[in-house]
Amino acid sequence: MKALLALNPLIWKYRGRLFLGMVFVVFTNMFAVWAPSMIGEGVNALNEANTHFLVPMAQGQSPTLDQLELPRTLAFLADTLGWAWQGLDAPTSRETVLDFVLWVGALQAVFYLLAFLVKGGFSFLTRQTIIVMSRLLEYDLKRDIYGHYQVLDSSFYKRHDTGDLMNRISEDVSHVRMYLGPAIMYSMNLVVLVALVVTVMLSIDPVLTLFALLPLPFMSLGIYFISANIHRKSDARQKAQSRVSSFVQQHIAGIRVLKSFNRERDAAERFDDETAAYKVRVLDLVKVEAMFMPLIVLLVGLSTILTIYVGGQRVVGGHLELGHIFQFVFYVNLLTWPFASVGWVTSLVQKAEASMNRILDFLDATPAVISPDAGGRKDGLSASPALEFDRVSWTYPETGIQALNNVSFTLQAGETLGITGRTGSGKSTVLQLAMRMMDPQEGRISLDGTPLPEWDLDAMKQDLGYVPQDVFLFSDTIGNNIAFGQGAANEQQVRKAAQDAGVREDIDGFEHGFNTMLGERGVNLSGGQKQRISIARALVKSPRILFLDDCLSAVDTETEDAILAAIEKQEASCTLMVSHRLASLRNADRILVMDEGEIVESGTPDELLAAGGLYATMFEQQKAEQD
Ligand SMILES: Nc1ncnc2c1ncn2[C@@H]1O[C@H](COP(=O)(O)OP(=O)(O)OP(=O)(O)O)[C@@H](O)[C@H]1O
Ligand SMILES: [Mg+2]
Repeated sequence: MKALLALNPLIWKYRGRLFLGMVFVVFTNMFAVWAPSMIGEGVNALNEANTHFLVPMAQGQSPTLDQLELPRTLAFLADTLGWAWQGLDAPTSRETVLDFVLWVGALQAVFYLLAFLVKGGFSFLTRQTIIVMSRLLEYDLKRDIYGHYQVLDSSFYKRHDTGDLMNRISEDVSHVRMYLGPAIMYSMNLVVLVALVVTVMLSIDPVLTLFALLPLPFMSLGIYFISANIHRKSDARQKAQSRVSSFVQQHIAGIRVLKSFNRERDAAERFDDETAAYKVRVLDLVKVEAMFMPLIVLLVGLSTILTIYVGGQRVVGGHLELGHIFQFVFYVNLLTWPFASVGWVTSLVQKAEASMNRILDFLDATPAVISPDAGGRKDGLSASPALEFDRVSWTYPETGIQALNNVSFTLQAGETLGITGRTGSGKSTVLQLAMRMMDPQEGRISLDGTPLPEWDLDAMKQDLGYVPQDVFLFSDTIGNNIAFGQGAANEQQVRKAAQDAGVREDIDGFEHGFNTMLGERGVNLSGGQKQRISIARALVKSPRILFLDDCLSAVDTETEDAILAAIEKQEASCTLMVSHRLASLRNADRILVMDEGEIVESGTPDELLAAGGLYATMFEQQKAEQD
């Protein structure tokens, strides 16, 4: 229960609702317990009328009617309202007694109904407070988790897969909610109901109480074991189900690859296997679930039989009135669900505990990249910012691959610096470090004269534009995808950015222009169009420094020229441009050549060519390819 205790401060926030809920639970159960006594007392009154009046009358005696006893509630009402039985003055006859019996029966039935109506009302209010409280807490919890997702750095996301992160915010939270809502509500209900019912039962007949309640703890125990079993099996079913859905999801997303490689039949066979495995799990689960209701019915039946048998003997022995047997049978049924829920609630709590542990695990994860405590530098970049790498080394902790080794360079104000090198040489890593997606293990990176860790993260990123190597577009309109770069971008800025990124004409060619939806159900863009929208997204914020990671690889030379010219004209005071295609770097003032995480050459294109090193080799290769 340790993890669930962590929820207490959250629960405290809604203590008002919880307290009201408790009050409603008490009222609900008071009426639930009161209702069966209407039946018991009604039967007792009728039985009395029979044995004391009808039977003696049939034998020729004439008992007086003022001995007729009213049920307690009726008697109370009659007393307070000053009612008198009209028939009392009439001569004693079979008709007056039957009249009496009819009235008492009808009134007790009306009270019984009323008690249930009021109980229903309170039960509604209980849900409105406790279940609503659990929904509010669910909202708080989800908001906290999502908020935490936003501050965690990229290395966290490499360690956890998307499915896991989705599960925490959806499934785990809903397990916790089941604890906060139903589990708490049913537990309170059980305690209050048992206390009330047992008190009433004991006051009527302690011996019968013992026999009537005997089977119920066995029911709780049995249900606990069955529930635990059900949970284990439904976990297995859940896993089989998610395997089936991720199989389907992957194979539908990759349907084009699937078809072009002619693997449909193979995929269908594998799908058969997966669904067959799922079927086995489901049937397994259904078998256990099928035992649930019969067990309850069996034990409740046992309880009822014991009540009637033992109760009957007690009535014969003169220890009990007949109507109380009825009342007890009602109570046994009333206790069924709360006792059954003990087992269910126990497994709910266990599940919630496991989920809460997973959630806490994650909420306790601290981001490695944070703004400095004292706030850090908040003013934006100066008019002529520079970026400096000073002996920076970086090893990916997940793979142990050293991606950068002792890298030093400076991106001067106003300069366009190119980075090239073979695939895997560390180019993208340089840009990610410059964007402070992670902090280098060694060396220092400074932006505009301030080391990155001393910058306020928001202020620092405000003036940086980044076009990542892998384009990611949201399932949203093209316009919103571009405006994403700058929350407050207006339509004109979006259009200008699209123009500069060389994608304006393409967009205007679509039926819905900038309102065209992208994503699964929207249009599919070509690789080059996606790249250019991604560039427009970076340009829309008019960044001071622009980082471009191989973002023109899917664009033809002519378009590339236009885009480069537009970028040149941008206010951006400097640009760091990664490309493995040397032609893309022709406008660069200087080029760094990387190999295996180190800068092996640097200089202007002409100098590098003359030096006859790696650059010259790559140049020859690419020229030969083009020819
Ligand atoms: N997220 C990561 N986790 C672990 N290792 C990584 C990660 N990203 C890159 N690496 C490794 O770091 C090295 C440098 O990768 P990087 O992406 O910087 O190369 P690159 O020069 O951009 O290559 P390319 O031209 O193919 O884009 C590679 O060996 C790569 O395997
Ligand atoms: Mg790269």
